[in-house]
Amino acid sequence: MTHHSHPHARAGHESTPASTPHPTPQPTHDHDHDHAEILDLDADVLAEHLASITAWLPVDAAPRHVVDLGCGTGAGTLALLARFPEAQVTAVDSSAAHLKRLREKAGAGGMAGRVRTVLADLDTHWPDLSGTDPASSDPSHPDLDRTDPARLEPNRPELVWASASLHHMADPRRTLRQVHDSLAPGGLFAVVELAGFPRFLPADAPEDRPGLEERCHEASERRHDSRLPHRGADWGPMLTAAGFDVEAERTITVDIKASPSNAVGHYALSSLRRVRAAVGDHLSPEDLAALDRLLDTTGAHGILHRSDLAVRTRRTVWAARRT
Ligand SMILES: C[S@@+](CC[C@H](N)C(=O)[O-])C[C@H]1O[C@@H](n2cnc3c(N)ncnc32)[C@H](O)[C@@H]1O
Repeated sequence: MTHHSHPHARAGHESTPASTPHPTPQPTHDHDHDHAEILDLDADVLAEHLASITAWLPVDAAPRHVVDLGCGTGAGTLALLARFPEAQVTAVDSSAAHLKRLREKAGAGGMAGRVRTVLADLDTHWPDLSGTDPASSDPSHPDLDRTDPARLEPNRPELVWASASLHHMADPRRTLRQVHDSLAPGGLFAVVELAGFPRFLPADAPEDRPGLEERCHEASERRHDSRLPHRGADWGPMLTAAGFDVEAERTITVDIKASPSNAVGHYALSSLRRVRAAVGDHLSPEDLAALDRLLDTTGAHGILHRSDLAVRTRRTVWAARRT
């Protein structure tokens, strides 16, 4: 397991200073690896919802070139490849480890040839998203239809997808303008954002510290408010200001109960481990002890033993047209 550090890594390795009361020392984790695992579990558990979002997108004709901005380990890339079987996807992220994982997943699904990965920090370098259409870049290519002027243009994307990534950008308004200028005329920009962090436990859990999960997220949101001010933003007006015509907006509510056949328990475990790494030092000793009992996979009170888990979250999608 390699640790790849990139400018967007959040909490570093988890540490347990001897002076703080940590009832159950937690193992150290590789941050990028943990994040990748959560992204993969999210993709797995929410696969049907993701498919319903890609099915809903108001695309006029099947896009040939799609870009996934801040693609992570490829949840959106793989959903888009499935939704648009003729399309090539350019997947962009600042994490080399995430892109490597994405390529492995695409390869396992027999789709490696339809994916191009681009390593770029979009805050500092806007990559050329025109892609490589052999027909459009080679005037002598046999597939080139010389009567179609669009084929003589660079292969601009007809669809750009950004899921849970825009709020990470240092200057999202600039990013929106850059996406606008990169799209083919008439192309669509699909923005997917989370209304908040998913919740996994009932409100009255755990029995000895009811409301623990909410208190963890309150602590986390206090940190994020200053570091990620655009999380939970209304992207509609910002898209309009960047020159887009916002054609549709949709919010989906997710409530998936844990079952032996799904990965909800592991998604909850990985996510709450990450929450602990981020805000453990900001919790009361009693809450921290209760959280550690939940995260203890060997104890009777561990989260994987609970039968009342679910993933509850909301995702909003904006479909914005470059006119
Ligand atoms: C919450 S993840 C979402 C990943 C994926 N789109 C999904 O829906 O599963 C956010 C992603 O944005 C990437 N990211 C954050 N800031 C970035 C930047 N400035 N340039 C490129 N990628 C960035 C992160 O590396 C991460 O993979």
